[in-house]
Amino acid sequence: MADGATGDAGTEEPEVNRVPVDIRSRLALALDVDDLIEAKRLAASLSPYFGTIKVGLELYLAAGPTSVGYFAEAGFDVFCDLKLHDIPNTVERAARVVGSLGARWMTCHTSGGLTMLRAAVVGLTEGAANAGMPTPGVLGVTVLTSDDTATSAELSARCDLAVDASCGGIICAAPDLEDTEPWADRLARVVPGIRLPGGDTHDQSRVASPSDALVAGADLLVIGRMVTAAEDPVAAAEELVASVLS
Ligand code: C5P
Repeated sequence: MADGATGDAGTEEPEVNRVPVDIRSRLALALDVDDLIEAKRLAASLSPYFGTIKVGLELYLAAGPTSVGYFAEAGFDVFCDLKLHDIPNTVERAARVVGSLGARWMTCHTSGGLTMLRAAVVGLTEGAANAGMPTPGVLGVTVLTSDDTATSAELSARCDLAVDASCGGIICAAPDLEDTEPWADRLARVVPGIRLPGGDTHDQSRVASPSDALVAGADLLVIGRMVTAAEDPVAAAEELVASVLS
């Protein structure tokens, strides 16, 4: 995958030594909560397991840009999942703000087209450069899991768009890893819908186990309710890492 996903938050925690860095760097924790205090608590307790924190719409709308800056300063790679889709000028300007916050990744819908995606890349890159931050990457959302009408040809076209726009990667479901393999050398593949066998799938319809998704070529796994909604999130994270190592 593209470089990154190497946040060093939590290195003061002894547990971090038990989680291989190449596993931790491939795990993103989706903080789908509406309260920054709760998000901080979850991130602190789970930092030995996750190198990346995903700030989605819910937390961003509740806590604002502070949420991105906080986790970036804490040493995590921050994946700002705002799924931008608007006119290119608006996307570029919004992306410039996200870049200035220190985000490592920001999502945009590939369905917004080439000009919009290029604008996102320009804005994100310039925003980070102006703030003296490392260059972040745009992740193109290929097909929403709720969209059961998109064809394999559309998926391929969206991967081409992401490459043409100089995106750093894509978001795709685990079953699409095989079809997106031809782009694996140019795009990091970020995969949600991860569940341990037998676990509650919630509203996810296209799930895979962590090890299956990694074997199939996923660069970064987005882990949400499997850990955050567990009775004991730390135990769930332990189980997750153990399943990958077994
Ligand atoms: O289901 P889970 O809590 O693991 O979701 C993690 C992330 O996956 C969410 O933050 C959301 O971005 C994405 N998601 C998805 N399709 C769904 C539900 C969530 O891609 N049906």
